[in-house]
Amino acid sequence: MTPAPLTRDTSASTANATLVWDLPLRLFHWSLVVTVSLAAITGYVFEDLWLDLHAYVGYALLSLLAFRLVWGFVGSHYSRFGTFPLNRTEAIGHLKQFLRGRSEASTGHTPLGAWMIVVLLGLLAALSLSGLILWGGQENSGPLADFIGYRAGEAFEELHEILANFLMFAIVGHLLGVVVETYIFKHPLIQAMISGEKPLRGGAPKSAPSFWHTLGGAVVFAVVAFAMSYWISTANAATLPSPTVAPAVPLSDYAAQARQQSSAFDGFSADRGQTFFYATPGGGKPETPSCTSCHGDDPRKTGLTRAGKAIAPLAVSVTPSRYTDPAKVEKWFRRNCKSVLGRPCTALEKGDFLTFMQSQ
Ligand code: HEC
Repeated sequence: MTPAPLTRDTSASTANATLVWDLPLRLFHWSLVVTVSLAAITGYVFEDLWLDLHAYVGYALLSLLAFRLVWGFVGSHYSRFGTFPLNRTEAIGHLKQFLRGRSEASTGHTPLGAWMIVVLLGLLAALSLSGLILWGGQENSGPLADFIGYRAGEAFEELHEILANFLMFAIVGHLLGVVVETYIFKHPLIQAMISGEKPLRGGAPKSAPSFWHTLGGAVVFAVVAFAMSYWISTANAATLPSPTVAPAVPLSDYAAQARQQSSAFDGFSADRGQTFFYATPGGGKPETPSCTSCHGDDPRKTGLTRAGKAIAPLAVSVTPSRYTDPAKVEKWFRRNCKSVLGRPCTALEKGDFLTFMQSQ
């Protein structure tokens, strides 16, 4: 690993450039940029359509974080958490300097930079873990599907969304810090994260990353990625529905609501439910004109999400665990009615639909 000579023109950096960020760390950083961008796009913009993709990006993120955790102990000098300048007095001193418009270059992380990394990595870890829990609880998918109930998943959805917003703020803070350091204080941080080199400040270079560090990084990452895919694949194979619960369709609630919405209400009808299930009412998303777009033409058969994931049959006779959790039923009505009709379903539509499914 012989670093190419630096060609940028900032006076501070041409002298004494030394390799500071090891290659695995830089690859981690830029992979994280790609992964988090994908997670944000699939999470914020195309939530319903790309939920599966979002989950897989989450697995990738979790693997990257696991790698970073290990690398924080066995990586080269400046990659190790132990060398992070997390001293409070230093951080406050740096902050004061920063606000006065000065910032000294440092060979590794600056105190504020180090804290920023702790915050970012902490948020990312909390996000991927809460995502894993909610993926298991709400969608009954992934390695935690057997351990997390629907309600717990729903609670974590809230947390997941709040954390995601915090992360967006933290990323803006990180980018602002980098922009100020780069363009106002002339410390070429972005270039350093690409080439790995920084100008040397005071003292001797602490054990520059070697070829062995790069090789070690590749091995650590391969082990992490293998363990992760093994965990996901074996857990998924075990996650088949276990229909042991008796159907308990929350019809009485919907009947009370339907009566409130219209005095002419005189009970639900499986026939109307059938018509509703097969109808193409318009008003929703063009990709999902009908309930059958995902659930298929036969309620007794397995359906398919837009992302290609199997949906267990809706007919109670085939999947007795269906409609046993009112919160789950309501959530999917909310989501799916919005996709197909572009509005919430009425209590009458919901009751008719459930009555039809009960008759199947
Ligand atoms: C974009 C695909 C899609 C469309 C369109 C769709 N659904 Fe679903 N639906 C799903 C998925 C995914 C699930 C949850 C997976 C599971 O429970 O196995 C689900 C679950 C449900 C549930 C919850 C079942 C339970 O076990 O509690 C109900 C109720 C439901 N859908 C009703 C409807 C109705 C009514 C329509 C039409 C207005 C509709 N769906 C259209 C994808 C879709």
